[in-house]
Amino acid sequence: MSFMNITIKNICCIGAGYVGGPTMSVIADKCPHILVNVVDVNKKKIELWNSSDLDKLPVYEPGLREIIQRCRDVNLYFSSKVEEKITEADMIFISVNTPTKTKGEGAGKASDLKWVEKSARQVGEFSNGHTIVVEKSTLPVKTAEVIKKILQEVQPVQNNKKKKSFDVLSNPEFLSEGTAIKDLEFPDRVLIGGDDKKAIMALNNIYKNWVPQKKILHTNIWSSELAKLTANAFLAQRISSINAIGALCESTGADVREVSRAIGSDNRIGSKFLDSGPGFGGSCFKKDILNLVYLSKYFGLQEVANFWEGVVKLNDWHQHRISKLVVKKLFGTITGKKIYILGFSFKANTNDTRESAAITICKDLLEEGAILCIHDPKVEPNQISKDLGFSETKEINQIENLTNPLLEGRWCFSRDFYHGFRESDAVLVLTEWDEYANINWLQASKEMRKPSWVFDARSITNYKKILEANLNFWRIGDSTGYIQKV
Ligand code: NAD
Ligand code: UGA
Repeated sequence: MSFMNITIKNICCIGAGYVGGPTMSVIADKCPHILVNVVDVNKKKIELWNSSDLDKLPVYEPGLREIIQRCRDVNLYFSSKVEEKITEADMIFISVNTPTKTKGEGAGKASDLKWVEKSARQVGEFSNGHTIVVEKSTLPVKTAEVIKKILQEVQPVQNNKKKKSFDVLSNPEFLSEGTAIKDLEFPDRVLIGGDDKKAIMALNNIYKNWVPQKKILHTNIWSSELAKLTANAFLAQRISSINAIGALCESTGADVREVSRAIGSDNRIGSKFLDSGPGFGGSCFKKDILNLVYLSKYFGLQEVANFWEGVVKLNDWHQHRISKLVVKKLFGTITGKKIYILGFSFKANTNDTRESAAITICKDLLEEGAILCIHDPKVEPNQISKDLGFSETKEINQIENLTNPLLEGRWCFSRDFYHGFRESDAVLVLTEWDEYANINWLQASKEMRKPSWVFDARSITNYKKILEANLNFWRIGDSTGYIQKV
């Protein structure tokens, strides 16, 4: 069989999450000749993917709803029929979650591969004929070996023979949340790792429907697995680097934005990923670096492990640094003070809060007895409840209640943006949502309790307007004095 013979007609993707959903939607959109089934054990999630109200899609990504509108129930289907769709498919993507292990060997660092193993077992058991299995999840280097072994061992034997055959490829996903559709439609590169040319070309030819061939890289399978962890580690390292320099700026009178511009103009450094913020969040940076740390230790490379672990430690330190700074500026205590939190998602244009810096910082502030009012354009209050570990107290919205000591350490969700400023001692901007760039600070200031502060951990607000509104102002990586009134 020449490799031109493998034409994929039916794809199944196991996992309908932030990666599986958008990735398969784009494949379906670009390849109308391929039937794409996205399956998930989470029935509620599947219901939402099938919802006629597109505002209810479980993943918010600009451009996604239009694709769903075009392709859903045409050549793109979401269902919970995991086994059935595996049987029908000739290519299966594994796009399940791979969080950090919470117990046992490697707890706190290694990836928990139980969902990947379960998927591999299901594929081994229910697939049909020859199947190409594609690792889409981010996995520790050498996982393909485990998957191959499971696929071989679990398949049923008939007349002393195993009837099924498999190829395993690594095809890590590099999309960023909030720009997922653009990243998928115009990727910097598509990476395919594997050792069987026919299988590689089968996947290559799917991407070739919209990605120029020169951007589709082929590597061996281990390089592909490791390249994904490395890409995330390098990106996260840049953020810890600039946040470390930001702290130094605050102590020296330098301005981190100016330093970023100066170093980013060097072509070798480049200008992207140099925005100092409240610390990186998202479901992957921390877990992928910790995974790299675990692997390095496993292979006896302690110094390599220490190097990468430093990136995560700096990030943790930096998030707590921001909460401590807020307490310090508010005269050393925030007990019973109302702080208006602007932004809870880990970055703008996503409803995802996983590992968001806002979680750590809000928990710190609540522990200090602050009363928080939290605003986010896309995150739902029940998600914030899950992240903070307890539900909101709506009474906070009635100002006369604010002196009630029972409200200390409680939070409420802001349903009316300007109402949230009422009687606030401080505003803390944690996510760079566009709407926070255009706040009417005169109106906000009238509502706040004086002396009041604005802390901008994203450098997104208009500081001139804030100062004109008679508010004290602090922003990340800046102690140039002229923007600080007291
Ligand atoms: P997610 O938690 O949003 O989605 C994973 C889905 O898999 C869940 O809905 C879960 O119910 C489902 N699942 C688990 N086991 C299953 C099984 N046996 N059968 C059917 N469904 C099953 O996770 P995600 O953010 O989409 O990430 C998936 C992988 O992609 C991870 O390895 C992650 O590191 C990687 N990744 C994520 C991003 C991102 O931006 N989120 C980007 C690149 C890579
Ligand atoms: C990141 C990578 O950018 C993707 O390539 C990768 O596929 C993905 O992880 C993954 O494997 O999950 P994502 O987590 O969606 O994507 O978001 P990023 O844009 O990378 O931002 C991560 C965090 O860094 C956010 O909290 C963001 O606010 C922060 N950040 C980013 C900064 O603080 N400063 C910057 O200059 C850039």
